[in-house]
This record gives sequence, C-alpha cells and structure tokens, in this order.
Amino acid sequence: MATNRKLVLAERPAGRVDENTVELLEEELPPLGENEALVAVRYLSIDPTIRTWMNDAPGYLPPIGIGEVVRSGGIGEVVESRSDRYNEGDLVFGMVGWQSHLITGESTGAFLQPLPPGTDPLMAINLFGINGPTAYFGLLEVGELKQGDVVVVSGAAGATGSTAGQLAKIKGAKKVIGIAGGPEKCAFVTDELGFDCCIDYKSESVARRLHEEAPSGIDLYFDNVGGEILDAVLANLALRGRVVLCGAIAHYNETGRPAGPSNYTNLIRQRGKMEGFIVLDYAPRYPEAQGALAELVTEGQLKHREHVVDGLERAPEALNYLFDGTNTGKVVVRL
Ligand SMILES: NC(=O)c1ccc[n+]([C@@H]2O[C@H](COP(=O)([O-])OP(=O)(O)OC[C@H]3O[C@@H](n4cnc5c(N)ncnc54)[C@H](OP(=O)(O)O)[C@@H]3O)[C@@H](O)[C@H]2O)c1
Repeated sequence: MATNRKLVLAERPAGRVDENTVELLEEELPPLGENEALVAVRYLSIDPTIRTWMNDAPGYLPPIGIGEVVRSGGIGEVVESRSDRYNEGDLVFGMVGWQSHLITGESTGAFLQPLPPGTDPLMAINLFGINGPTAYFGLLEVGELKQGDVVVVSGAAGATGSTAGQLAKIKGAKKVIGIAGGPEKCAFVTDELGFDCCIDYKSESVARRLHEEAPSGIDLYFDNVGGEILDAVLANLALRGRVVLCGAIAHYNETGRPAGPSNYTNLIRQRGKMEGFIVLDYAPRYPEAQGALAELVTEGQLKHREHVVDGLERAPEALNYLFDGTNTGKVVVRL
C-alpha cells in the first residue's frame, strides 16, 4: 500500500489561483491488481490550460470537478509492478495529475506510456509532452510555414514559443521576431535561441516595432497571447498572412468576456487567415514531432530550457508563474 498526497480542486478561482483554490489531501491507495503498476510522480508539466480546466465552462476537455485531483501531464517512475508492460524503475509519461502517486493500467483510466530508456525527463516533459508537438504542428501544419517567411512569435521565451521560433528559423524563415516581457527574456530569445530580434512588449510599442522590423508585413504569426499583441500583429499582416491561434494567455484569468481584436478587418484587405488548433488532435502523430525535435536537440540545433520548482505544494504557485511571467522556458514541478 502507498500513501498518495494529492491536490484537489477545492473551489473555482476567479482570476489567478490562490491559497483557496486547491486542498492537499492524503489517501491510502489500494493494493495493485493484475496488469497494474504503482507510479511515483517525479515531474509535473505546468501548462496554462490547467487554469482553463478549473473554470466551470465548456472546453475541449471537461472542467475539473470540485474535489477531483487537478488534471496535469507529467512523468512518473514505476515503483512496483504487476504488469508485463511496466518494470520497476521505468519512467512513464501521460496524465498523472497533481499528486504524488497513482496506479496505472488499462483498467484504471490512467494509462501511462513508457519513456524510451535514457531519455532526459526534463527534455521529455518540455519537447515530447504538450509544448514540442504544439510548436511543431502549429507552425508547420496549421501555419504552413514557407521558406522566406517573416515570422512573429509571442510568448517567445516560454516553452511553446521558444521552440516554435527556433523551428521557424531552422525550417527556413527569412526573419523570426520574438515578443517577450523584459530585457532579460529578450536577450535569451536573441542571444541563446537565435531569433533575429525580440520586442519587449512591456517597454516598447509593439505595433511600431513590428512595422520597423517587418516593413513588408508579417507572413506568419504564432500567437500564444491574444489581446493587444494580436491586434498589433493584425495591423502589420502581409498579403496572405497567416495567424495561428495557439493560445490566449492574456485572457485565461479574465472573468469577463475578452475584448475583440479591432484590426481583424485587415485579414480581408490582406486576404489573410486566422486559425485555431488543439494539439490533442495531432496525438496519433506525436511520434513524428518527438522524433524530429529529438534529432534537432542531438544535432545541437534546438535548445530547450526548463524552469524547475520543487514540491507538489508549490504547483499552484508554479501555475501562476506562467501568468506573471516569472518563468523562462518550460515550468516543471519536481516532486
Ligand atoms: N493550442 C494548443 O493545443 C496549446 C498547447 C499548449 C500550449 N498552448 C498555449 O500556448 C501558450 C504558451 O503556453 P506555454 O505552456 O508554452 O507557456 P509559457 O510560454 O512557457 O509561459 C507563459 C508565458 O506567457 C507570457 N504571458 C503571460 N501573460 C501575458 C500577457 N498578458 N501578455 C503577454 N504575454 C504574457 C509570459 O511571458 P512574458 O514574461 O514574456 O510575458 C509567460 O512566461 C499558452 O497560451 C497556452 O495556452 C496551446
């Protein structure tokens, strides 16, 4: 028997999560059944979408129920097994939830996939989990990146944006412009990730800088943010420009309805298009993205950074880092 420590949703947040949002509970897990394995969670993938799952609102997945473990991707280690599929010591990934232990097996509803032996778990949680495939399919399939494109990526120092911008450069974009908050993040985006330039949206006029950096217009915008930055990009779209709506983090904590982008009519004039996507639709093709990204890392072409926060209890704080911009790179909670 193992004792599980779990963070359950105690109340739905209005705005950012706070000390009342989750409650820490303990429970004894039952003995393992046949074909089951006990997993100790080692890393949690902290994603902005977790905040959207806390709302009692329709979404691409059902809301997390009050009293349910907060839904979350992550990586665990098999500590006991009654299954041929899992050996003790294996690292496994999938939806582990904000908790210390869980039982995996086809009958439990939590079916975790083994990670290839020797895989760096931090790289895996960043590039093999949600963010890598999101950057890959969002940019190449939804955005239809073309050689010579002028590309803009917001949230450029974050998990998804940092990968999307580097991939754009690797795949032949003429110019990649990042947008991020603050001089340190912008230095990371240009000096370490190799973007051509980075606009600090906290201290510069995004619309004016975009006009200077992309005088012939923006061919492809990978939008992680929404809000005023999306509007500024729409005003600077090139002929047949594409806007990939990956995320709208500027709105996830809002309680009212977000203001609409007022420059959307530019899509008409420029014969442009704007398209949203959910990476889960590409799940059968994740191995394609994972393989391509792993190869680029091995070749030294693609960099990744993780922002590690220690302790299950700090998961709500870590989630807020995504909204106050504390993080550079992928936010991971280590248990
Ligand atoms: N469509 C999909 O299937 C899918 C899958 C995964 C992720 N996403 C989306 O991708 C986006 C990025 O997610 P991530 O996990 O990679 O997070 P992340 O970029 O690692 O972290 C979020 C970053 O967003 C920036 N930010 C927060 N509030 C902002 C605001 N009001 N205006 C401008 N920037 C703001 C912050 O950076 P600064 O310091 O630069 O402000 C923060 O570091 C999110 O919108 C997420 O929902 C979509």
